[in-house]
Amino acid sequence: MSNSPIQIQLIQPDDWHLHIRDGKVMKDVLADTARQFARAIIMPNLKPPVTTVDLANAYQGRIEVNLQSLGVTGFTPLMTLYLTDNTSVDEVRKAKDAGIVGFKLYPAGATTNSDAGVSDIKRCHAVLEAMQAVGMPLLVHGEVTSAEIDIFDREAVFIDQVLEPLRKNFPELKIVFEHITTKQAAHYVRDAHTATKNNIAATITPQHLLMNRNAIFAGGIRPHNYCLPVLKREEHRVALLEAATSGGPRFFLGTDSAPHAKGAKEAACGCAGCYSAFNALGLYAEAFDGIGKLDKLEGFASFFGPDFYSLPRNTKKITLVKQAQSIPAELPLGDDTIVPLRAGEAIAWTLA
Ligand code: NCD
Ligand code: ZN
Repeated sequence: MSNSPIQIQLIQPDDWHLHIRDGKVMKDVLADTARQFARAIIMPNLKPPVTTVDLANAYQGRIEVNLQSLGVTGFTPLMTLYLTDNTSVDEVRKAKDAGIVGFKLYPAGATTNSDAGVSDIKRCHAVLEAMQAVGMPLLVHGEVTSAEIDIFDREAVFIDQVLEPLRKNFPELKIVFEHITTKQAAHYVRDAHTATKNNIAATITPQHLLMNRNAIFAGGIRPHNYCLPVLKREEHRVALLEAATSGGPRFFLGTDSAPHAKGAKEAACGCAGCYSAFNALGLYAEAFDGIGKLDKLEGFASFFGPDFYSLPRNTKKITLVKQAQSIPAELPLGDDTIVPLRAGEAIAWTLA
């Protein structure tokens, strides 16, 4: 009997939802992503947010500088703009010409650095009209923000109050329901995307495939398992795993890896965000393997994202090995450190 570990080969994946921040910390987090992925959609929630093509070009320039100093070739950042109440129709056209891949809708106050977000989607009608017309995708953080709505219900309420009316008003608008966390969202996207109408898709993070909300409170408060939208009950995790491994082209990989320094997480009011980038592919492989669906990983990780965004699929291949990798307790993050997802434990799969 051979002792060689189980391996799988797949076309190199992309990350369709990623935070890499700016300044000193960017280099450290970018290195982790570029080691695994060919492309990543870069979220625009900087301080101040990336609201114009000029700001996105400048940000892309800083990313390229960091890639160069890491000696990375063959990684492409895909840039997005942050939608505000004041985004102009002209900016949408400019963005289309500049190769911006989407506008991000953050309901104001929904998550980290979202204060400049949209206060009322009705204010954006002309801009959404323009996006629909030029085929510019809208990437949505799908949570309502009203304090009266229970935090565990905010995604489901968003579907009824915001998403469904939005899709009625803009039936041809391309929408990515980002980092979905509930059975309601998984079923909504599954049922809305049909053979004749396929302009809505969803990304799913590794933490929402692997953990339920108990993980935030296991033996004490676990700030490194806290992200937004927050982890939900087990029945939701099961529904997300079913969606991700369904082979349906409407669900694809988006880590939402969201780095915050250790001190900003381990605090009286800790920031939301899980740092999964260190071995994100290992986490996804573990989730798929856990229910015997490794054969569905390549579609989810490498095909359905580019297909939805009308970009070419990658051609290079990578190998994942079923070999446990110990995850360090901390990693460098500029002048600070960061605690990665699974810190001090192991991930069952590793990039060869
Ligand atoms: C993200 C961040 O830190 O930028 N945090 C998170 O918990 N996911 C913001 C976001 O995507 O909601
Ligand atoms: Zn995010």
